[in-house]
Amino acid sequence: MNKIVVTDRTGESQRFDASDKMRILHAGLLAGVGLPHECGTGTCGMCKAKLETGEIADLWPEAPGRRSCRRPGEVLLCQSAAVNDVSLSLRSAFSPPLRPACERVKGRLTLEETLTDDVALFRCTLERPLVYEAGQFALVGLPDLSGPRAWSMIDYTPGAAHFDFLLRRAPGGGASAIVFDTSDELDVELIAPLGQAIFDPDEGRPFVAIAGGSGIAGMLAILARAEAEGPVNAGTSHIVFGLRDPDSAYLLDRLDAAVSQMNGALRVTVAFSDAPASALLQQAHANLIFTEGLAHDVAAPIVEQAKHGDVKPVYFVAGPPAMVDATLQHLLTVLNVAAEDVRYDRFG
Ligand SMILES: Cc1cc2nc3c(=O)[nH]c(=O)nc-3n(C[C@H](O)[C@H](O)[C@H](O)COP(=O)(O)OP(=O)(O)OC[C@H]3O[C@@H](n4cnc5c(N)ncnc54)[C@H](O)[C@@H]3O)c2cc1C
Ligand code: FES
Repeated sequence: MNKIVVTDRTGESQRFDASDKMRILHAGLLAGVGLPHECGTGTCGMCKAKLETGEIADLWPEAPGRRSCRRPGEVLLCQSAAVNDVSLSLRSAFSPPLRPACERVKGRLTLEETLTDDVALFRCTLERPLVYEAGQFALVGLPDLSGPRAWSMIDYTPGAAHFDFLLRRAPGGGASAIVFDTSDELDVELIAPLGQAIFDPDEGRPFVAIAGGSGIAGMLAILARAEAEGPVNAGTSHIVFGLRDPDSAYLLDRLDAAVSQMNGALRVTVAFSDAPASALLQQAHANLIFTEGLAHDVAAPIVEQAKHGDVKPVYFVAGPPAMVDATLQHLLTVLNVAAEDVRYDRFG
């Protein structure tokens, strides 16, 4: 074990141990240290820190998040393993420790249901139950693959020893090739739960959730939580689900049933960017609103209306990075939504 000391910009120091096999970010989070992070997997750059003393191994030198390491000595904590005792400094202050605390747990992944050519549900059965909040994600390590992948839990069954992931096959993707092309069960190792895009019904606020493609994954957990709780007497919640075209659509039955169950407290709009919905599709899902356009454009009038409701909604955004960035830009600068009301996950 190596001794790690991290000092933040206020001068506060926190200490924890990390083996040379473990990424420093993950070891710190597991030890309850509030290290800055977002994706946990090398893309966002939020976990950068300056190496002051000691030696680290850079486990993914090509990580996109390295673009934000501009000062000499800066490294990504989520892609660095300690070679010996190490001290690091942060430009930011420590965050509060994760709640619920994140844990390391073994699991087994099996195909649950194929939804389209490149989207499927996978069941993850855990060695023991895990406590998490609706909207959170897990870092999933697969056998013989360098680096874990971040996948959102789609259910809200905290305390259960299983949950499902909704996975999209990424062309040429390392994890995609393993999970979609292996028929056997896969042993996986999870670090979970992570993520700040959490829905808490106790806030007493409706939500506007804007999802691009597989970004619907975390929204399904939010939906499950809202369904379990019953409608908040605070206004209508909305889901805007952006997809390419009707052929790439999935989970419409699930969303249709949710609108029916939520009894007027939920509206779901399905936005196809490339082709309109057929009359047949609309008839088959009479509770859903179908429209053409990009998710953030389609969401704009919904947000305008929701903004002026009695209770301010919470906004959730998830999906491919370009879609999330366009939506955040629109929400914050065009629609003047307050940043503290927006929670998001960039899927990359
Ligand atoms: C918060 C969050 C939640 C997400 N939720 C979902 C979800 O619910 N469903 C879903 O389908 N996708 C989700 N994603 C995207 C997911 O993490 C993967 O990008 C996706 O599954 C494709 O993985 P891949 O291995 O097939 O593709 P690849 O292109 O091989 O890899 C994708 C990601 O894996 C990591 N990676 C790649 N190579 C390495 C390496 N050599 N060393 C270390 N790390 C590496 C990087 O983060 C990279 O962006 C989420 C992403 C984030 C950040
Ligand atoms: S948390 Fe390390 S790059 Fe995102």
